[in-house]
Amino acid sequence: MFPKHFYWGASTASYQVEGGNDNTDWAAAARAGRVPECGRACDHYHRFEADFDIAKELGHNAHRFSIEWARIEPEEGMFDEREIAHYREVLQALQERGITPFVTLWHFTLPEWFAKSGGFERDDAPEIFARYCEYVVSELSDLCDHFSTINEPNVYASLGWLKGLWPPFERFGFIGMFKTVTESGDLTKARPKTRLLAPLSYYRISKSLANSHNRAYERIKSTHTNVNVSIVKHTVAFDSDGNPFNSFLARISNYLWTGWFMNRVQNHLDAIGLNYYHYTKYGDRDEHEKTDMGWDMQPSHIYDAIMILARYQKPIYVTEAGLADDDDSHRAWYIKEQVSGVACAIADGADVRSHMYWSLLDNYEWAFGFGKRFGLVAIDCETLERTVRPSAWEYKKLIEANSSVDAVE
Ligand code: BGC
Repeated sequence: MFPKHFYWGASTASYQVEGGNDNTDWAAAARAGRVPECGRACDHYHRFEADFDIAKELGHNAHRFSIEWARIEPEEGMFDEREIAHYREVLQALQERGITPFVTLWHFTLPEWFAKSGGFERDDAPEIFARYCEYVVSELSDLCDHFSTINEPNVYASLGWLKGLWPPFERFGFIGMFKTVTESGDLTKARPKTRLLAPLSYYRISKSLANSHNRAYERIKSTHTNVNVSIVKHTVAFDSDGNPFNSFLARISNYLWTGWFMNRVQNHLDAIGLNYYHYTKYGDRDEHEKTDMGWDMQPSHIYDAIMILARYQKPIYVTEAGLADDDDSHRAWYIKEQVSGVACAIADGADVRSHMYWSLLDNYEWAFGFGKRFGLVAIDCETLERTVRPSAWEYKKLIEANSSVDAVE
């Protein structure tokens, strides 16, 4: 049973949908031919009202989106009030439609000036990040209560500093090693630098991100005690078939992927955002159907990911979970299973307060470009026409069925 004020909706992120974010490290990497062009993306920057009309029609009462740091602080220490005004309009548009906003302050893309000067490798990165976060919250907190500082710190650090698929394209290995083994299969394009000491950089970046979150939390909360500040944690649920060695592996993996980071930020959190895509069971020999990303479809195991985060005893918001499914043949089933997993976690005592599907719109899927389709709403890349996929209506039915008046408080 879902609590009465449960939040149902979907997520997006600025770079992936807005279009025109040219002053970022990703746009610079695209200009250098190392990642696909993003260009106008879905032009959500200009079409957000129409997109929120669709979200409302689909029964959503919550929406997560991110602010593009490079728009707000295009040069170091210079803040652009026109862009703040834009995001105020975005928040107002959500409020007018009865949709509660969840704002992520940073979702992977950096302003070019920050990236060029070292990004999160800079010693003063926590202070710079915290200044930006505090500025945005002070400008928007009359329109929004929920702010997340960082989206998926481990994904950011591992794809940029271990796998070499994202800026700044550093990769673990000996020179010439792993030439063909990549997630996107397109390593030639990324041209990563191979480094034996990449794990040390990964560790340094992860530590800098934890410190940056903590500093941002302190600065925001010192002036805005009432807003909820969270981190969004990509949580892979590692499990085992019960074999003692596999159980040990699962424990270590959960610590390395989630515990290590969460232990560093747990005293600076009002809530936790959960992004769920993966469940790995050591010793499991079963073949599972794959999403268009090649990821196993294990939607109900969102339960395990929730339980991993539940030990931090903070409210949990499912901020992302979903699949790439171009022909929409699995999405409705997947969402239903996912929602059942969330319901089971709530029944077992977890304080879960939202389910936001990734994503509202087909979007720029980072190193994969526009080829992977996660949206409840399909986007025609040529005309930008929006078409609601059948699964989005099934999700609406689920929302309605679970928002019944006799749901417990
Ligand atoms: C990220 C999104 C991404 C999604 C699907 C999450 O890890 O936050 O930006 O599009 O996964 O890969």
